[in-house]
Amino acid sequence: MIKDLFDMQGQVAAVTGAASGLGLATAEVLARSGARVVLLDVDARGLQAAKQAIESEGGLAETAVLDVSDRAAIRTVIDDIALRHGRLDAVVANAGVSAGPGYRTEIGQINAVQDEQWDRVLAINLSGVFVTLQAAAAHMKKQRSGRLVAMASVAGLKSEVMCGYAYTATKAAVVNLVRQAAMEMAPYNVMVNGIAPGPFRTHIANGRIRQPEVAAEFASMVPLGRIAQPEELKGLVLLLCSPASSFMTGTTIPIDGGIMAK
Ligand SMILES: NC(=O)c1ccc[n+]([C@@H]2O[C@H](COP(=O)([O-])OP(=O)(O)OC[C@H]3O[C@@H](n4cnc5c(N)ncnc54)[C@H](O)[C@@H]3O)[C@@H](O)[C@H]2O)c1
Repeated sequence: MIKDLFDMQGQVAAVTGAASGLGLATAEVLARSGARVVLLDVDARGLQAAKQAIESEGGLAETAVLDVSDRAAIRTVIDDIALRHGRLDAVVANAGVSAGPGYRTEIGQINAVQDEQWDRVLAINLSGVFVTLQAAAAHMKKQRSGRLVAMASVAGLKSEVMCGYAYTATKAAVVNLVRQAAMEMAPYNVMVNGIAPGPFRTHIANGRIRQPEVAAEFASMVPLGRIAQPEELKGLVLLLCSPASSFMTGTTIPIDGGIMAK
């Protein structure tokens, strides 16, 4: 009974940004739950390592190199997955990049924001998420079932001194994109939800958060007093992709050690 709630046997899932960090943790847990997982990322070598790790645990994994700032490539990859497997059950639009430091640092202040950096972050963190959801939605509407999950951030729910402007703006946009898509998709039995992580120990921003002094600074903002390991995302992302979340849609859930409750 409990197992059935989280069972994704026979289902097909796709995860963007799956070669590292939260995307890799997502791919691992969906594979563990029985889904065939398609890992998508710009990092070809990272994809191979991730696929091997999942297969060594008995999971079913495929990979495709994908840059989510390339709209046409996203559509081709998602259509191909749905066509080859005849279904598409869960898609996690996770790929995202940092926009550099926040306004506390001079290069993170509003006057220092460069057009090229702004455009690049919007292309990946916002258009990339939108087109991933859009491409998947077409199949899920026809199928009349599915789960769409977008990776936002607590930096999209409130201002964040440590994060750049384009990052906070795109993450906030993702939160409302989730609501909007959830309303349209509700009659089709497709749930659309977001996840808003606090600080996790990943490779984002060239692994800056892995430096002890940066980790300590982030940890000081967290009521639980530490940053999280990618493993700790698994419960929530599995919930949102599995039968257990059949009455949840349109929401973005913080997983933040208590930050949003402060
Ligand atoms: N780590 C955190 O503290 C934290 C907090 C809140 C939200 N997030 C969000 O979680 C998501 C995952 O980040 P992470 O922390 O695991 O970082 P990460 O850098 O460890 O992983 C991100 C992955 O995305 C891939 N990627 C980057 N640009 C891409 C592109 N254009 N197309 C396809 N793949 C691309 C990278 O190659 C990498 O494998 C991001 O959306 C990030 O904003 C992270």
